[in-house]
Amino acid sequence: MTKLLKRLLGDVLLETELSDVFSSFDIIGDIAVIKIPDSLLMKKKLIGDTLLSNVSNLKTVFLQKTAVDGEYRLRGLELIAGEDKYVTIYKEYGCQFFVNVATSYFSPRLSTERLRISNLVSENETVINMFGGIGTFSIIIAKKTPALVYNIDSNLDAYVLSKINSKLNKLQDRIVSLHGNARDILTSGLFENKADRILMPLPEKAFEFIGISVNCVKPSGGYLHFFSHIKSDTKSKAVIDSENHVHSLFSNYDYQIKHTQIVRAVGPRVYQTVTDIYIKNS
Ligand SMILES: C[S@@+](CC[C@H](N)C(=O)[O-])C[C@H]1O[C@@H](n2cnc3c(N)ncnc32)[C@H](O)[C@@H]1O
Repeated sequence: MTKLLKRLLGDVLLETELSDVFSSFDIIGDIAVIKIPDSLLMKKKLIGDTLLSNVSNLKTVFLQKTAVDGEYRLRGLELIAGEDKYVTIYKEYGCQFFVNVATSYFSPRLSTERLRISNLVSENETVINMFGGIGTFSIIIAKKTPALVYNIDSNLDAYVLSKINSKLNKLQDRIVSLHGNARDILTSGLFENKADRILMPLPEKAFEFIGISVNCVKPSGGYLHFFSHIKSDTKSKAVIDSENHVHSLFSNYDYQIKHTQIVRAVGPRVYQTVTDIYIKNS
């Protein structure tokens, strides 16, 4: 994507400016979201128009004005070219998703991780996605395997989209969307000892929900997919640091680390990692 961006902007930016262009941009359906460094903000319209006229099927270009932030993990957006619209349809692994880039979290950069986890799920599993957003992980899982997936999110907009997306993919019988704080929903008594697998894709805060998730795992054992943000000098060290982090958090439990990997870099020497943990709830 970086190369594409630089090639497209090669005609409108100076060589020195080109090296300043942020490393990547996201294309979500027919909407692009791009970061532009302060030094180039006066050329944002030119950059937006260039993208719009060179990337096929693109209708809208937003400048990402703030980092992803807050409970709902949202980012500030400013329209710099094209139609003023936030909703698009994104396609991944044979599934379709209505995405609202302003009101709910979505990242195309997690697609490989969505596929990886979906490949681990067996028939008839009960899966809880504690921070399910618009239903991306849950829908990819349920599309591949007849499992029952609970998709929880505290953001009403994300919850509504998860319901719409489950129907859009004809998976409403396999996915139960729930709106609310995962803490309240999972301590209600309804989910204790029920899950074969729990996804915890909220790297900033997943560690606050460990006790709650373990209580929901079946007494015979189950898997947690535990996401973290890890600051490390190298990728290989990030994997080791991530496992050490998990060991320190889970020391009171009967658990085994099955696998850890980097999901993506999220900043200079900061990595999002995922650890697959087999755990006994006893
Ligand atoms: C990083 S996003 C991941 C969303 C989704 N899994 C995906 O990959 O597209 C985290 C999601 O957790 C939701 N969230 C944050 N705190 C929550 C909580 N305490 N209970 C339920 N959902 C929460 C946010 O609204 C957001 O949609």
